Amino acid sequence: MASHRRPVLAANWKMNHGPTEAAAVIETFLQRHAARDDRTVIMFPPAISLAAVREHTRERTDVKLGVQNVHTAEKGAFTGEISAGMAADAGASFVLVGHSERRHLFGETDEQTAQKCARVVAAGLTPVLCVGELLEQRERGETETVVLTQLRAGVSQLAVGDVRTMLVAYEPVWAIGTGRTATPADATAVHRVIREALRERVGASALDIPILYGGSVNASNAAALLAADQVDGLLVGGASLEPVGWASICGA
Ligand code: PGA
Repeated sequence: MASHRRPVLAANWKMNHGPTEAAAVIETFLQRHAARDDRTVIMFPPAISLAAVREHTRERTDVKLGVQNVHTAEKGAFTGEISAGMAADAGASFVLVGHSERRHLFGETDEQTAQKCARVVAAGLTPVLCVGELLEQRERGETETVVLTQLRAGVSQLAVGDVRTMLVAYEPVWAIGTGRTATPADATAVHRVIREALRERVGASALDIPILYGGSVNASNAAALLAADQVDGLLVGGASLEPVGWASICGA
């Protein structure tokens, strides 16, 4: 890992932990994870639990908040949805865009991820663009093509300056929630491809864009993945739900 990129440890709680549970979990986590200035922690609770988590993290500038998804529109008649502006108002600084569950369970397209990234930036927030291939795509040798298509589409409506300040997460779909993790070498190989595409878009400052790995990260494999070349952080689902284990990953 290049020394100028501070590792980012991001927790994606998905549809887990309502406000009461979220408050208890974050409190235990904060007791276990002392603030350190060489790490950034980002919590992505369900939007409905954001206020509860925010309440407990007010004193902790090392812990940032985000939401897991926003709508493509600024506002309007979209029952059940939230906008990037609302997420900002509620205290979020980051938004996951194009998570594989959004893409594959909810049919989100590359065009929508592009619109969402643009909305997120317009609301003053930072997108964390998620990209990753399905198992059959990997087996057909299409990993690079799939990841680059998703990446280029996702940043297509952003200005160069906005790409420079965003984050990217590589999450092979076959590794998400399956217990099957990419090896550090697998992650490095794809992260290199992503870094090169970012360099084509923004020049040398692509070196400053954090590229996180996600997919069955746990307390046992976190340190090795984080130490891998080109891996600047981790996006963790299942293993971030339990606060003691999450604190140990954040200390990896
Ligand atoms: P997982 O999920 O850690 O449970 O595999 C990662 C993610 O989907 O962000």
